[in-house]
Amino acid sequence: MTAVRRIRRLYAGADLTTSQGWDAYARRYKGERLGDEWNRPDVEGLDVSADGYVAHLDSVVFAPFLGHVGTLLEIGPGGGRFSEVLLTHCDHLIAADTSRSMLDLLRGRFTAQRNISYVHLDGLGLRQIGTCSVDAAFSYGVFVHLQHWDIYNYLVEIERVLRPGGNALIQHSSTLSEQGWQYFLREVPGQLNRHKLFGTYTVMTPELMAEFARRAGLKPLGCRTDVVRTEAISLLQKAAATSDGQAD
Ligand SMILES: C[S@@+](CC[C@H](N)C(=O)[O-])C[C@H]1O[C@@H](n2cnc3c(N)ncnc32)[C@H](O)[C@@H]1O
Repeated sequence: MTAVRRIRRLYAGADLTTSQGWDAYARRYKGERLGDEWNRPDVEGLDVSADGYVAHLDSVVFAPFLGHVGTLLEIGPGGGRFSEVLLTHCDHLIAADTSRSMLDLLRGRFTAQRNISYVHLDGLGLRQIGTCSVDAAFSYGVFVHLQHWDIYNYLVEIERVLRPGGNALIQHSSTLSEQGWQYFLREVPGQLNRHKLFGTYTVMTPELMAEFARRAGLKPLGCRTDVVRTEAISLLQKAAATSDGQAD
């Protein structure tokens, strides 16, 4: 049984929020590097080893899109599976997560690192992060589990905290891809007549994500559906400022 299923069973009937579920996951975690269990290239249709999974995504999508920036915001870093590589793409990484237990694991993993700060989020947005204060935003393994209302709210918040012209890379579900549809079907029996279960693979498509982004004031630059076949990676941008200080 997977760790997510064990937690669902342990808290059956408790109606866990996404944040509470992942906090429970981190509290029960016994290994060294939480997140490595999600490096599953075979499941995701990638021809790389599990050890080479993060480096592959970095070389194909993250590095080319993010480049090197001053301040990079990571939403939901968990145990730091991607933080390690993100630290090489910025002068300063803000690791923002709703789970204090995840943040504790992260602090333990990056004790020697000086250019990372830790922010505990309340799950309602990014109010702890200043307006126009980050150069880029990144989130992986988080939006796949968020409700649509949370997704839209985070996009609005990302637009607020990004500096003009800043990029955001958000990975999310792709329900209508072949593999995404299989995920969806697997979850049908457990989801009937109840609130969303913790760890659910949210129903989302590249088109809906692009429309949410537009309505949040972000420009969809593209969506990679060719890298990880189970999900999609949306590439978004906040409009650049014009000479009169208005958004372009
Ligand atoms: C499946 S883990 C992924 C962690 C990491 N990004 C990775 O891919 O290995 C989901 C992470 O998102 C965090 N999270 C859940 N809900 C969140 C929310 N509303 N805002 C920010 N982080 C959230 C969880 O605490 C957890 O650290």
